[in-house]
Amino acid sequence: MAELSPIDRAKYAAARRAVDFVEDGMRVGLGTGSTAGWMVRLLGETVRTEGLRIQGVPTSQRTAELAAQAGVPLTTLDAAKWLDLTIDGADEFDADLNLIKGGGGALLREKIVATASDRMVVIADLAKEVRHLGAFPLPVEVIPFGWQTTRALIEETLVSLDVLGREVMLRRNGDRPFLTDQGNMILDLHLNRIGNPRQLSFVLNQIPGVVENGLFIDICDTVIVGHGDGRVEVRDIATGRIEEERIDIVETENLFRDLGD
Ligand code: 5RP
Repeated sequence: MAELSPIDRAKYAAARRAVDFVEDGMRVGLGTGSTAGWMVRLLGETVRTEGLRIQGVPTSQRTAELAAQAGVPLTTLDAAKWLDLTIDGADEFDADLNLIKGGGGALLREKIVATASDRMVVIADLAKEVRHLGAFPLPVEVIPFGWQTTRALIEETLVSLDVLGREVMLRRNGDRPFLTDQGNMILDLHLNRIGNPRQLSFVLNQIPGVVENGLFIDICDTVIVGHGDGRVEVRDIATGRIEEERIDIVETENLFRDLGD
């Protein structure tokens, strides 16, 4: 068994704390990415060992496959209609718990699922915390039809907005465009600093051809920040409280055998 890196320990600690939010009978949105992957494995372990009864709604094909392997019972958002809780990772979060998501290309389903949840809990390591969103390139999902025109419209729109950079790059997968689970493309906006995330999100979504952008404004309720030594901070936007705890990271657990994600 390979030793976990400090970042993986931080992600694991955040994911383990997040699983405490899941109660028997809940319908739970399952995020995408390496941090969410830990949460899915831990949830599967709780289902197996403690008989937790839940229904999970995956935010990507990748997460659906991982959840099936981990033994998390799955349903669809259409069948569940509304969810009690979504747990997901993020690429950046600020002091208002606004987020950039979509580094893994799943932002559209992630936003639909999180918006359809009573509560969104984000799990992250400390490196994801920023003063201003935008150092991480903002993913924007666009339909393939006329995508170059859509890109030109985005570039034109950015000229009048409060951002520091304006480069728009097509995301690639080798020598082909990266395609989302919906068969759409991703444009990554290298903005460096976003002065007004709410305005940017609104304006981007008015452009024909844009399906959704990776800014999550007023969607996240709680961020759990994990540290490599097992400390976790639980920050809640409604109460403004920050609680600190420590998670025991026992690397002999079954779920450390397969670090595929
Ligand atoms: C996927 C996402 C992920 O949550 C985000 O990219 C964080 O990933 P990781 O936990 O691997 O750092 O938004 O679309």
